[in-house]
Order: sequence, then structure tokens, then C-alpha cells
Amino acid sequence: MKYRCFDHSTETISEIGVGTWQFGGDWGSVSETQALETLQAAVQRGVNFFDTADVYGNGRSESIIGKFLKNSKEKIFVATKIGRFPIPGGAENYTWDHFRQHTENSLKRLGVSRLDLTQLHCIPFDYIRSGEVFDWLHRLQKEGKINYFGVSVETTSEAEYCLDHVDGLASLQVIFNVFRQKPIQKFFKKAQDKKVALIVRLPLSSGILSGKMTHTTRFEPQDHRQYNRDGQAFNVGETFSGIPFEKGIELTEFLKQHIPQGWTLAQMALRWCLDFEAVTTVIPGAKNATQAVENVRASELMPLSGQLHQILERFYQERVEMHIRGAY
Ligand SMILES: NC(=O)c1ccc[n+]([C@@H]2O[C@H](COP(=O)([O-])OP(=O)(O)OC[C@H]3O[C@@H](n4cnc5c(N)ncnc54)[C@H](OP(=O)(O)O)[C@@H]3O)[C@@H](O)[C@H]2O)c1
Repeated sequence: MKYRCFDHSTETISEIGVGTWQFGGDWGSVSETQALETLQAAVQRGVNFFDTADVYGNGRSESIIGKFLKNSKEKIFVATKIGRFPIPGGAENYTWDHFRQHTENSLKRLGVSRLDLTQLHCIPFDYIRSGEVFDWLHRLQKEGKINYFGVSVETTSEAEYCLDHVDGLASLQVIFNVFRQKPIQKFFKKAQDKKVALIVRLPLSSGILSGKMTHTTRFEPQDHRQYNRDGQAFNVGETFSGIPFEKGIELTEFLKQHIPQGWTLAQMALRWCLDFEAVTTVIPGAKNATQAVENVRASELMPLSGQLHQILERFYQERVEMHIRGAY
């Protein structure tokens, strides 16, 4: 495992982390035992970065991580999120009282005295622009409840706005993968210049970039890949990166022709993300130990060749970009 600087000075985090939304539901069921085994397998191979949120399973994901931390000797950097609990979008979510109470709840579930990183969880752009939420985050920081704060965004405009206007911003969490390449031109350089860490979500485009899915693949009704596949429940970009499922399968078939020998498509997809210096960590959401181990190995692989990068850039421009739905 290789490590990258989180705050460009002392804190280093593994370049592959584990995203844990799937431990809270919305991806079919994952038992607590399975979740703990997944975290253990990743940590044994050098992972020291977990991403979670208070709203994942109404606290279940954070509680599982809390249990893991209690029995682990390793120092793990846990990034959580605030702003969508209990129901995303409600005005009552964006008050000082809410921020303080929900921070206390996250601390309790994780069993720590200070949160390593709190990220605003895809809150409406108007609340980001109003700026008050950042006053509250600064206040929580002064009170010693949180160490860093960042923003998880849905669009490149939100990312650019935060980079330009938010004092003390430590990180941005963004959708970035072979199907979603716009961030490279829009804000990668600025993030590097401003020393803001980039946390990459959907690196496998909800699993489709593992190459295992076919036209006959079916998902459980409570899996967002079933109930949000066309954006019926929340931002369409969070599911398959906004690409219609059937189109995603077709595009993946093209990618399979370019997998370096001995690799899996998941590893090629993760390695592609890691090849960008602006990226600090990539957080695939492993559901079991086998997936976690396969994903971690991307860190040990060679960067993709320049020629393959060019093929994938053209692939995105000529065959993918026009199919992305939703604000991006
Ligand atoms: N708004 C936000 O801030 C936000 C939104 C989304 C995600 N996130 C974060 O990002 C994390 C990653 O989730 P994501 O949505 O970005 O999805 P992703 O990582 O692109 O895909 C994750 C899914 O792909 C499958 N998978 C993972 N590794 C695999 C492998 N090696 N081989 C085959 N299949 C594999 C698993 O599902 P199956 O086995 O069931 O196919 C897994 O649940 C989340 O857990 C969460 O922490 C944050």
C-alpha cells in the first residue's frame, strides 16, 4: 500500500481506502460479521482510511466502524459526513443545534473524542453559498470536536465554488472514474495548488466497472442500483455515474479489451484514478474481504501506460460523456 499526504504536511492516508455506505444498506444486505471482515482484510493490507456518514443505515455504518476501532491497534483515519440525517434535504438539517447534536452522535457511535474529518454530505448548493454551515464547522473545530472539515459535492461547479470561497477547507469528495473525467480539467490543478485533498467516490461506477455485470444482472429492491437507477430517489449521478445501466454494460465491454495482462477491470479502473497526482485517496465500497483485497492491490500496480490513458480519454470524449445524466 502506498500513502499520500492528506494535509500536505504530516497526516498520510492510504491511497486506497474503504467506502462504507454498503454497511448501512442501500446496496442489498451486508451482515455485521461480513462488514468487520471486510474492514479487517483491508487494514491488514495497509488501508488506514474509511469513509462513512451518519445517515448510512441511520448510524449502522458508523457503529460498525466504532466496533472495529475498539478492537483494532491500528490508527485509522475516519472520514464521516453530516447534513443528510435523518432525512436528506430538510431545512432543519442545516442549523447549529443539528450540527452540534449530530456531531456528538457520530463521536459516540465511532467511540472517539474527536472526528478526523467531517464532510458536508451533498447539501443543497444554496447552503454552501450562504456560508453559515462553515461558521458552524469552524466552531466545532475550535471546540475540539472535529479535526478537519471538507465537502462532498455532486457537481464540478460546487467543487470549484468551495475551492474558491471556503476558508480552512481540507478536502473535497467527488465522483471520479473512467466514465466521469470532467473534474480533471475543471478543478484538479486548483485543488493541488490550494492543497485540498481529493477523495474519490464511485471509482467503480457503483460496481459496473468491475466488469462482472451483464444485461441480465438484477439487484435487490432496496439496492439503489435498482431503485435509483434513473434518479428516482436522489441524484442520478450517484448511481452508475448517471449512465443508463444498459449503456454502462456496453461501454464496459469496450474497456475489457484494454485490461493489462493479469489485472482485473476493477484494478484497471482504480489504477486509472490513482494515476492522477491530485487524487489523495480512492474509496471503493467493498462488500466482502475478497473485493477489499482485489481493490487494495491496485495500489501495488504500475501506472497505466500513456497510450492507455490516451485511449481512455478518447473513449470518454467520444463514447461516454454524451450519456451522462444529471447535473455534473
Ligand atoms: N454523497 C456522498 O458523499 C457519497 C455518495 C456515494 C458514495 N459515497 C462513498 O463512496 C463509497 C464508494 O461507493 P460508490 O458509490 O462510490 O461505489 P463504488 O465504489 O463505485 O462501487 C461499490 C460496489 O462495487 C462492488 N465492488 C466493489 N469492489 C468490487 C470488486 N473488486 N469486484 C467486483 N465488485 C466490486 C460492490 O457491490 P456489489 O458486490 O453488490 O456489486 C460495492 O458495493 C461509499 O461506500 C461511500 O463511502 C459517498
